Amino acid sequence: MSRGVKEQLRGVIPDSLLDLVPRSFDVIGSKQEAVAIIEVPEEIRDYEEAIAHAVMRVQKNVASVLSKESGRAGEFRIREMRLIAGDPDTEVLHRESGCAFRLDPKTVYFSPRESQERGRIAEGTADGEEVLVMFSGVGPLPIRIAKHRPDVRATAIELNPYAHNYCVENIHLNRVGDRVEAILGDVREVAGSLDRRYDRILMPLPKGAYMFLDVAVPLLQDGGVLHFYHWAPSEDMYGEAEELVKAAFREEGREAVVTDRVRVSQYSPRYWKVRIDAEG
Ligand SMILES: C[S@@+](CC[C@H](N)C(=O)[O-])C[C@H]1O[C@@H](n2cnc3c(N)ncnc32)[C@H](O)[C@@H]1O
Repeated sequence: MSRGVKEQLRGVIPDSLLDLVPRSFDVIGSKQEAVAIIEVPEEIRDYEEAIAHAVMRVQKNVASVLSKESGRAGEFRIREMRLIAGDPDTEVLHRESGCAFRLDPKTVYFSPRESQERGRIAEGTADGEEVLVMFSGVGPLPIRIAKHRPDVRATAIELNPYAHNYCVENIHLNRVGDRVEAILGDVREVAGSLDRRYDRILMPLPKGAYMFLDVAVPLLQDGGVLHFYHWAPSEDMYGEAEELVKAAFREEGREAVVTDRVRVSQYSPRYWKVRIDAEG
């Protein structure tokens, strides 16, 4: 596909700059309508409209092309984006493994690249479990889990009101409203109002989940499973995450046994998003 975009631009962008055309980009949406998110290097910014139109010609479902204008920032983990070409309405319906998620990538976090990770988590969940998904965004994890395991109940907590509202809509779109509850708020504040303990707790906030371990561990049933996400340097992928998790269990007078270590995705040449699973 990316070779297609580059081919489209031969004769439009000088040959000497063609190799700077982005080799890959995220596409969020469905076969009917999608948004592409591209990162245009400074040297070829003058050609960004031509690049965006080439993307739309090669991938016909792409109706809007957004440019990444910053890294992910702030509590909501969203980036600044600018429309380069196409429809200014960038709300889409993303389809993934029999689920549908409505969202606007301008206002919420969502990564289509994490579908496989969501599948692994859904597969690993057992029938009848009570699951807590902290930092739940537009709901892809609780919804994938609930669709996969028809008698699992899930609670989703999210701070960004746009993401929470999409989560509520997505719960209904996917017909799991009887088993998935979405709560708007800060995990730390909401935790106090939860009246049960959970068989499985997910903490998908690699930048900062460790600051909420003191909230998560007391909510975990004895012998329950904690999925903890963390940023890690490639030279020591799991050491810090394991230490943080074990220390949090010790604080509660419990012992954590690490049962899995997963490289989820590469963030930069040196940094990875990793997951540690712990029971205790
Ligand atoms: C990395 S995103 C993951 C979203 C979702 N789980 C997914 O996979 O698409 C982290 C999410 O945590 C939310 N968040 C950050 N701090 C929070 C807090 N203290 N309480 C609740 N949600 C929070 C952000 O708004 C963001 O949507």
